[in-house]
Parts: sequence; structure tokens; C-alpha cells
Amino acid sequence: VPELFSRIKQAGRAPTAEERLLDIVELHEARPGITEATLGAWKTSSGLTGYDLLVERVPPRARVVVELGAGNGPLLERLLRERPALERAIGVDLCAADLELARARLDRRAELHRTRADRLPIAAGSADAVLTHHALYLFDPPEPAIREIARVLRPGGLFATAHWTFRKRSESLFWQMMDVMAARNRRDAPHFTGWADPRMLDRDELEALLASEGLAGLEIEEHTLEIREPGELVCDRLMGFFYSVELQRPETRAELRREWLRILASSDTLSFPFSIVSAVRGGLPETLEPAAGRV
Ligand SMILES: C[S@@+](CC[C@H](N)C(=O)[O-])C[C@H]1O[C@@H](n2cnc3c(N)ncnc32)[C@H](O)[C@@H]1O
Repeated sequence: VPELFSRIKQAGRAPTAEERLLDIVELHEARPGITEATLGAWKTSSGLTGYDLLVERVPPRARVVVELGAGNGPLLERLLRERPALERAIGVDLCAADLELARARLDRRAELHRTRADRLPIAAGSADAVLTHHALYLFDPPEPAIREIARVLRPGGLFATAHWTFRKRSESLFWQMMDVMAARNRRDAPHFTGWADPRMLDRDELEALLASEGLAGLEIEEHTLEIREPGELVCDRLMGFFYSVELQRPETRAELRREWLRILASSDTLSFPFSIVSAVRGGLPETLEPAAGRV
């Protein structure tokens, strides 16, 4: 098993976006399905996962939907089940092991591509919706990927993503756990500056980035996954989800687990905040456009 995140660890300086991307894909190759094993296990108080919330957004009559960073296909699977009228569900990811798992669980309407989110082999204006689930913020630089999203969407087409929260930090258990993790990251990998372009985590900056490519009408809905599981299991899942844990030395990781368990013991519920961000490709919705040739 190769050492995970070796490029980032060995860089000794802030890693380039390319180094980070190669390391991220290597991690997913070693642990296919890891995001679903974490976020797929947890639900909001209405009993929905982030995947379900995205599928709900897709218009019932959508014919073509694209997912970027599709991983092992949990979102595409739900989409094909809940939207029987769908003709094509196109998944894009760079991780071969995840795409293989996705292929095995999806029906023939699925089309999978191993390619970068900023180079889509998809015709302009052909998609009714483009979705991402905890992947948009990893696309760095974001502009070329956002340009591709806008290009493949038809006018009036929907972009929606499950994303990091925009809520203010609070004293909640979740933020206590994030602080403890961040302090240990700084100690073990002081040269590392983060996974996402900071603009992706700022509401106004994200709105401007989307708008500059013609994705307008930004909406942000905040949600929380309500987690009531034994502390050890919560730690296992979170340590799978947060890439940064892999930057820590094994002793640090053990320390992090002890600290997290201590925090988790103070309540029977951990609320994991996230947002659903959506925007629409500018222009009139298809049904309102004048028919070609009409005077
Ligand atoms: C946190 S995982 C989420 C996977 C899946 N959406 C889920 O939630 O179960 C991020 C995924 O994005 C993919 N990814 C990251 N950067 C990418 C890029 N530039 N182009 C294509 N895929 C990318 C990774 O390979 C990984 O599968």
C-alpha cells in the first residue's frame, strides 16, 4: 500500500493544486466508496441524506443529468431509481476504482467517464441538471470546472451541489471537533494550507464565481446530518471523510481520536452541518423560448 498523500507531505511547502489532486485521487483509489461509507450513513431530521436532497432538486422530467466527482455512484443510483424518465445519467470522476464500483450498481442509462471535471466529453447545452456531492470545492482552480458546468447545461438548466456549510462557526460539538483536528494538522503539516480554493467557502465569492460563468440565482439551503451512533464508529467514519487526518502522524491520529471521543461523550447527538447550493444557467427556461422560425 503506497503512503497516502506523499506528495503533500513531502512538498515541505504549500502543495500545488495538481499535487493535491493526484494525492486525492490516490487516496480514493486506495479506499473506493469512502465518502458514501461516511455521509451515506447519516441523515437529516427528515430522514434524508445529502444524496437524497440533491435528487429531490432534479426536475421529474429531466432527461439528461451529469454528476461531477461521482465517486462510486451513490447519487447516480438514487437518481436513476427516483427519476424513471431519465434517459442518461453521466458520471465523471478521476478514480478508476470508484468508477468500477459505480458501473456495477448502475443500469444501462448510466454513462461513466474517467476524466477531469474541467474537461467534459459532453455536448454544450445538453444537460438538464449538473450535480456534485462534496466535490465542487475540490475543483481547483474552480473557474474551468464552473465554465464546463455552465457550458454543458441547457439554458434554464439546474446546477446543485452538496457543499461545506456557510453557517457561522459556533460552540457546537462539530466545531469543537474541527478545531481539535485543525490544531493537529497545523502541528504535523504546517506547510499545508487546505483542500479548497478559499473562494469556494465564501458565499459572496462563490456567487461571483458562478455568476461570472452565467450561473445565476444562487440559493443556499443549510441542513444538518443528525448523528446518533457510538463514538468509536463516528470517529471511524469522520476519519475516513476528512482527508486532513491522513496528514497526521499515527500518534497524532490516536490523540485526535481520544479528543474526539471526549467531545462526543458530552452529548448523544452530533449535528454535521452542510449546505445545498444551487443556481440556474442564465437565459430563458427552454419551454419559454420562442419556437425557431416563428415570427
Ligand atoms: C469527497 S469525494 C465525493 C464522492 C461522491 N460524490 C460521494 O459523495 O460519495 C470527491 C470525489 O471527487 C473526485 N474528484 C476530485 N477532483 C476531481 C476532478 N478535478 N475531476 C474529477 N473528479 C474529481 C474524487 O476522485 C472523488 O471521487
